[in-house]
Amino acid sequence: MRTYLKPEIFYQDNLPPKEQVITPGQECIIVYDIMLTEIPEFKNWLTMFEHYYGVTGGEALKSIKYFPEHFDKICRKILHASRTGLKVIAVGGGSIGDFAGFFASSYKRGVSLINIPTTLLAAIDSAHGGKNGLNSSFSKNQIGTFYFPEKVFICRKILNYLPEDQILSGFGEVLKTAILAGDSLWDKLQIDDEITMNYLWPLLPEIVDHKYKVVEKDPFEVTNKRRILNLGHSLGHVLEKQFNLLHGEAVAQGLHFTLDWSVEKKHLSREDYKKMKLCLETHFPCIKEELGPHITKARALELLMTDKKMDLDQELNFVYLKGLGLPHVEKTKVYNIIAKLFQHSWVT
Ligand code: GLY
Repeated sequence: MRTYLKPEIFYQDNLPPKEQVITPGQECIIVYDIMLTEIPEFKNWLTMFEHYYGVTGGEALKSIKYFPEHFDKICRKILHASRTGLKVIAVGGGSIGDFAGFFASSYKRGVSLINIPTTLLAAIDSAHGGKNGLNSSFSKNQIGTFYFPEKVFICRKILNYLPEDQILSGFGEVLKTAILAGDSLWDKLQIDDEITMNYLWPLLPEIVDHKYKVVEKDPFEVTNKRRILNLGHSLGHVLEKQFNLLHGEAVAQGLHFTLDWSVEKKHLSREDYKKMKLCLETHFPCIKEELGPHITKARALELLMTDKKMDLDQELNFVYLKGLGLPHVEKTKVYNIIAKLFQHSWVT
C-alpha cells in the first residue's frame, strides 16, 4: 500500500548545515548538478560531506540507457551504508530531482530522500509531489515511481544565482499556479511587476502550499484532482520538445491556447479571459506566429501521442478553465486538439 506523507519544507537563506540533513550515525550521498560547483557557497557546502556524485543535468541524465552505469557508480560510494541510515540528497533542477528521486526509491527498495531544488521550476513544482522519472527511448517519464521526500530545502542564496531566462521560465509555472489558485494568489501578482527573485521569494510559500493542497487530494494521480496541475501542458510539451523552449515558457504558450479554447467553448467568461490574457501577454507574448509555421499537424500529433497521459481511445484529460481558480478537466480526442491547434495557427 503506497502512502503519502507531506514533507517538511524549509525556506532559508543558506544551504542546510549537515546537522539539518543527517543526525549522528546517519550517512548521506549528495547527488548534485556539477554546474553548481561554480557557486562558491555550494562548493564550500559540499566539502562538509563524505559521499557525493556530480552529474550533468538535462534529459540525457534521465535516459534509462545510462541509469545502470550511474547506479553502479553511486552504489560503489555507499556500499558500507545501512539502508535505514542512508539519505539521498538531490541538489539541482528537475532532471536531477527525477534521477536522484528514482535512485532513492529503488536503491535497496527505498531509502530516505531530501530535495534541495536549485531552479525556480524545481523549487515550486518538481521538488514537491513525489514524482520522479526516467525516459525510455519512446517517451519521457515512462519509468518512475511516486516517492515523497522527507524534507525540501528552498535556499534563497542559491536561487539568487539564477539567470533571468530561468526566472522567467519559472514564472510561467507561477502564473499557472495563480490561475489554478484563483484570487488569493492571483491578486498578489501585479501585471507590471518586474519578475525577479526578490519579487518572487515572499510568494513561494503560497505557491508551494497550493501544490500540496492539490497533491494531498490525489497523491498518486488516480483521479482528475491532481491532473489540473497539467494546465497549459498539452501544447506546452509539444512546443518544448519541438523547439527546445524552456519548460515554463512553453507552459505559458500552452496557457494562451487553453484560454482561447476555454472561452470559445463558453466555459470561460470574457471578463476572466481578458484579465488572465492581459497578464500572460505582458510577460509572455503569444508566439504562435513565430512557431506555428514550423510545426505540422502530423508532427504535433506524433508529439501528443507520446504523451504519457494519453489513453487507449486516444483521448487526453485536457485541462480547460471555467474561471480564475476554476480548472475543468474533460476527456478530449487528440484529433480535436490538433484541429483546434490548426484553427488557431499553432500548427500548419
Ligand atoms: N508537475 C505536475 C505534478 O506534480 O503532478
